[in-house]
Amino acid sequence: MKRLCLLGATGSIGRSSLDIVRRFPEAFHIQYLSAHRNIKRLFELAQQFRPQAVAYSGRNVADEWFGEFRRIGVELLVGRDALEAIAAQPDYDMLVNAVVGAAGLRPTLAAIQNGKPVALANKETLVCAGELVMRQAAEHGSQIIPIDSEHSALWQCLVGEERDAIERLILTASGGPFRELAAADFRHVTVEQALQHPNWNMGRKITIDSATLMNKGLEVIEAYWLFGVEADRISVLIHPQSIIHSMVEFIDGSIKAQLGLPDMRVPIQYALSYPDRLANDLPRMDFRKYSQLTFFEPDLQKFRALKLAFDVLRAGGTAPAVLNAANEEAVHAFLSHRIRFDQIPMLVEDALHHHPGNPVADLETVLAADQWARKFVRQHVEQE
Ligand SMILES: NC(=O)c1ccc[n+]([C@@H]2O[C@H](COP(=O)([O-])OP(=O)(O)OC[C@H]3O[C@@H](n4cnc5c(N)ncnc54)[C@H](OP(=O)(O)O)[C@@H]3O)[C@@H](O)[C@H]2O)c1
Repeated sequence: MKRLCLLGATGSIGRSSLDIVRRFPEAFHIQYLSAHRNIKRLFELAQQFRPQAVAYSGRNVADEWFGEFRRIGVELLVGRDALEAIAAQPDYDMLVNAVVGAAGLRPTLAAIQNGKPVALANKETLVCAGELVMRQAAEHGSQIIPIDSEHSALWQCLVGEERDAIERLILTASGGPFRELAAADFRHVTVEQALQHPNWNMGRKITIDSATLMNKGLEVIEAYWLFGVEADRISVLIHPQSIIHSMVEFIDGSIKAQLGLPDMRVPIQYALSYPDRLANDLPRMDFRKYSQLTFFEPDLQKFRALKLAFDVLRAGGTAPAVLNAANEEAVHAFLSHRIRFDQIPMLVEDALHHHPGNPVADLETVLAADQWARKFVRQHVEQE
């Protein structure tokens, strides 16, 4: 029985993780849960799963909720540090980080310092502080197991392989809803159009990131830290069917790919049960329905965000933290109808251009770069 601390339980990955827990009550137990704004849903989940405690990181919570949670025997922790507080508890076996954004960084570090393995969906953790996170994970003997379908695919392709046998990592990307749209039309893209992903049903931020291809850029950085393969040996391939989740090419020219239907429950279950595989009855792939799998080179002129991600990876230091935070703010502004779709990568590029760039000495350096980028973008959005 693995006792889980699930952060971001009310989101898309959180819901899929709970679906897996429900399917395997003898294998997984929910020990801790968190939510950010949805206190009502957090309470319903607490009633169902009876965790030890729950963390609510949103600003305000009405006093009566404390009584409600007490009535069902679940402790309620509230505030900015509540996620770190549950991640630092001794009595769980794995942290599942399904929070969105750089807010996932501190709790990931808390779990690592606590010596716990981390099943990581929160890619922003590795984008903004990959060096720090991987160093601390090595020091504390904490394993980071990817949930992201592409990285889970790479991870699965690498089981039993030596790292120096890798020639290159090939991350596949659906290309998002605007793969065939002319760059000149990006300025007219509406929020509703950008939220329509062709293959995956995900949270709002990652759906917009998938439409700009920033998501693939974040994943390139995530892969760099997880697998220790430099930027020049990571390539991105547009594969609109999202059946091949990613591939590894080895030094002898052999290529391994991991395939399956686009269903996040598969990589989530693998991360939770790793290194074991558990039999399930999730929908299976019928190859006869996919007689054509197609592949294209991404257009880096049209999808600037992907190019920027490769640039910051090569620049190193605080540049990835700036890219990540500027993107979070710009996506938020777009979702609030304050900027156009094509302004998202423009604002990120502008922030990177103005940022002096520092080496990552510690967590404070990362957080300072994050704050700087957020302020930069907010000021520019206000001037629009
Ligand atoms: N969705 C996917 O299929 C998918 C696939 C691969 C990777 N990922 C990655 O997984 C992560 C989660 O994505 P998602 O699509 O599940 O997002 P989502 O549906 O928006 O859910 C986000 C979760 O994080 C919580 N949250 C939001 N802001 C927070 C903050 N500032 N501090 C603490 N918690 C916060 C939310 O709580 P409330 O609901 O209470 O606000 C919710 O539980 C992202 O890093 C994403 O890139 C997602």
